[in-house]
Amino acid sequence: MTPIPHAITLANGKGGVGKTSLAAHIAAIAGLSGWQVLTVDIDEQGNLGADFGIDGDDGDSIRRALVLEDPNEFNPVEVRKNVDLICGGAATKAAWTVISDNARGGDGAAIARFGQLLAPIANDYDLVVFDTPPAVGSVAVQAALACTGGVIIPVKPDSRSLDGLPLVAKAVTSARTFNPDIIVDGVVIFGVGAANKKIRQRALDNVLPLIEPGGIPFLGFIRTSELAAVDTRDLNQLAHEYESFVIEEAKTALPWYKRRNGDGDAEKARSYSSAAGGLASDYQEITTRVLREVANRSEAQSVKRAVGQ
Ligand SMILES: Nc1ncnc2c1ncn2[C@@H]1O[C@H](COP(=O)(O)OP(=O)(O)OP(=O)(O)O)[C@@H](O)[C@H]1O
Ligand SMILES: [Mg+2]
Repeated sequence: MTPIPHAITLANGKGGVGKTSLAAHIAAIAGLSGWQVLTVDIDEQGNLGADFGIDGDDGDSIRRALVLEDPNEFNPVEVRKNVDLICGGAATKAAWTVISDNARGGDGAAIARFGQLLAPIANDYDLVVFDTPPAVGSVAVQAALACTGGVIIPVKPDSRSLDGLPLVAKAVTSARTFNPDIIVDGVVIFGVGAANKKIRQRALDNVLPLIEPGGIPFLGFIRTSELAAVDTRDLNQLAHEYESFVIEEAKTALPWYKRRNGDGDAEKARSYSSAAGGLASDYQEITTRVLREVANRSEAQSVKRAVGQ
């Protein structure tokens, strides 16, 4: 049985494909919908805390929990309504070294230890979201794949980015040694022109044959918006928070014909991204599909448990 069936893992060996952005948004939107969510950043870069606007402990609680083999050392902190985070960062490196040393020492189950330690805490939540480093064969990613119920693969639509997909598919297949029920929940094409139907179709054609036979449960899209991406990070906001902010700003902004140097509040005269609403709704749509997959899986697991399988 999958150690944490209600966990999803954002995974791709490529960097900058939207793993962290998706992890933060899926978690925050699920939290707003009343789900209790635990996010776990197993990346040495520790970017997920920054997306939520917090500094964090640089991954020290993950290090302590794994080195001391004590789940009580995991230290989730609240980052949004109904959302907690176990921070990533440089200190996690020591944790993965312990696991890989144990594995090299002949401990076949060492990779599965992370999930076993996290499972008691994970059981207090409805959804667990792993953000991972851009290194799909790393011990950190293997540890997440060994315990997660589902995997979501963000990709960019260019062919070089799509080339990385077979590696993720291979990593998912190897994870079945510890986690036979793991499945790919979906693929998200990150950074697509909102109206570019041709790119969407090409991405779809490229992605589908690479995933397991039988197809994938869903294919999602996040539209490209560099201004929104920069603004949200500068303002420590997620897309839906940025959307509300832009609406409020628009109510008080000076009309363009009154905007001159020294005329009014310069910040209010600044233009924000017109893609804010669309971006927020892209994340909303993907979250709805993810939650549907997780709810189905959690229900199936409880039935299995009830009949003692
Ligand atoms: N909708 C968007 N349109 C364009 N760029 C975006 C959008 N959302 C985020 N970005 C930018 O894309 C970059 C990568 O995003 P993100 O950090 O989520 O990727 P990642 O896969 O987690 O990267 P890494 O592998 O380094 O951890 C960031 O610089 C971010 O500002
Ligand atoms: Mg990241």
